Amino acid sequence: MFRFRAIRRLALCAASIAAAGILAASAEGQQALSFFKSIPNGVPLPNSSGASQTWSSTGSIDQTGPFFQSMGTNGRSCATCHQPSDGMSISATSVALRFLLTQGSDPLFVPVDGSNCDHNIDLSTFRGKQAAYSLLITRGLIRIANPVPPNADYQVVSVVNPYGCNESNVISAYRRPLPATNLRFLSAVMWDGRESTPLTGTQKIGYANYASALQQDLAHQAVDATTGHAQGDGTRPTTAEQQQIVDFEMGLTTAQAFSWRAGPLNANGAQGGVAPLLTQPFFISINSSVNFLVPQMEMPGGQVIPGDGKFSSSIFNAYDSWAALPPGDLRASIARGEAIFNSRAINITGVAGLNDDISAGGLVAGGIPVLHGTCGTCHDTPAVGNHSFATPLNIGAGDPDPSSPSTNQGGLDISYLPKITICRTDPSSGAVTNNCRTTTDLGQALIDGKFDHAGKIKGPILRGLAARAPYFHNGSAQSLLDVVRFYEKRFGLALTKQDESDLVAFLSAL
Ligand code: HEC
Ligand code: HEC
Repeated sequence: MFRFRAIRRLALCAASIAAAGILAASAEGQQALSFFKSIPNGVPLPNSSGASQTWSSTGSIDQTGPFFQSMGTNGRSCATCHQPSDGMSISATSVALRFLLTQGSDPLFVPVDGSNCDHNIDLSTFRGKQAAYSLLITRGLIRIANPVPPNADYQVVSVVNPYGCNESNVISAYRRPLPATNLRFLSAVMWDGRESTPLTGTQKIGYANYASALQQDLAHQAVDATTGHAQGDGTRPTTAEQQQIVDFEMGLTTAQAFSWRAGPLNANGAQGGVAPLLTQPFFISINSSVNFLVPQMEMPGGQVIPGDGKFSSSIFNAYDSWAALPPGDLRASIARGEAIFNSRAINITGVAGLNDDISAGGLVAGGIPVLHGTCGTCHDTPAVGNHSFATPLNIGAGDPDPSSPSTNQGGLDISYLPKITICRTDPSSGAVTNNCRTTTDLGQALIDGKFDHAGKIKGPILRGLAARAPYFHNGSAQSLLDVVRFYEKRFGLALTKQDESDLVAFLSAL
């Protein structure tokens, strides 16, 4: 018996070394993958929980298209930050490996937005580069700098940026690349929705204009991404290339397909993996919890959004069939995690965009102090988990906790982020009032200039999560367990250790 155990331990040890080997190979794997002209649908792309898959409507990911070409001046392509191996985002682990393997010479590492700040940095030595790109290497963060809108109803009174980007007219935020996949389910483009607003000359995505508005927004985004990240001169992508990029993006579907411990995610009647997502219906407000509150909504211009008053909190049901398996089976744990996501009660308080007013449509004046909800109140798109209706929210992932300012409101470290203080201005005199707040990312307030919108951003698509740690717009959650613990602290959710690991097992299987 003793010997058997020892052998089993050895075998487990060997298995984990093999797994680590595959992991370590993934950044190299991506380099190797990029030698192939295309990646056929169904190729498993390994990550720490198992493997994801990204399918293209054309049968394979064509790596010769404009998405994979350098169209600017610094050698970057869209794929520099949106890689098939990383669920069409980039994980911090693979960024760190890329930094080591290329000694920081990959075009990802350029100062325009890759380094913590673009001035007063020393890139002449390896150590200098390591320091300059530390947020990218450790958290996968890109610096996103945007000007304060001229009509803002607030003034930026201080910017404390640990890296020297202290300008108060152009504010630097540090954000994770959103996955460039599953995009047909989007209700707003970018964390702050800026590629779906008049500010950038793009359109708000509504029920009636959904497909065309989304595609136009994505085309515009491709131009802005090339001018910004790739330091392009504005001539590319051409109109034809924009269309190719949009078609490519709209045709991609990503999901975790395999788990190291649970096996294939579509076994025993389960509906995990890419295939069920391909036929998943979507339209704006398909299951909006905001529309649930008010069954019908008239938009400016007279357009009526058909809220059917039938919001269902059962957002995911891929793993229902595993609920009956023996409790010790990881597959049963995934099913329990799904049930927690769909049904565990959360008292939602202090969330700008929900509790102050349902500002998505100006629905409830004065708001609702406590909303009795679930994870799906905010992650409401069936089988996908983003907002089915554009609903920028501030859950506090970027807001310092007043009692412990180096952590956010869910207890996660945010000491590496800048602190930006804004004060509302008096509408008649323009003078600064003492109504002020401090945050690490102004979110929607930097787009529409509204003090009340500080920190409001969108809830992203929750598929392919295991391929793209860390999480939240600012990378403050290093793991999915960090995400779960954030929610526990932020909303006073009481989860047992078993509940936590069930929820993590479920999120890792999306
Ligand atoms: C240097 C890294 C980098 C490069 C290069 C890059 N992106 Fe991104 N991408 C990001 C980041 C960071 C975000 C989120 C920024 C934000 O919301 O403020 C993002 C967001 C997006 C989104 C929004 C997805 C959503 O859910 O709203 C799309 C689409 C996208 N990128 C496509 C592209 C395309 C197309 C290209 C090439 C033309 C490109 N990206 C090049 C880093 C990059
Ligand atoms: C009050 C609305 C709300 C509730 C309730 C909510 N979320 Fe979120 N969730 C969001 C928003 C908004 C974001 C983006 C926050 C950010 O990046 O700062 C987010 C982000 C996430 C992310 C990170 C995704 C990524 O790509 O970085 C995960 C995972 C997640 N939520 C899971 C959950 C789970 C599990 C629950 C239930 C325990 C839950 N959420 C409840 C609004 C909500």
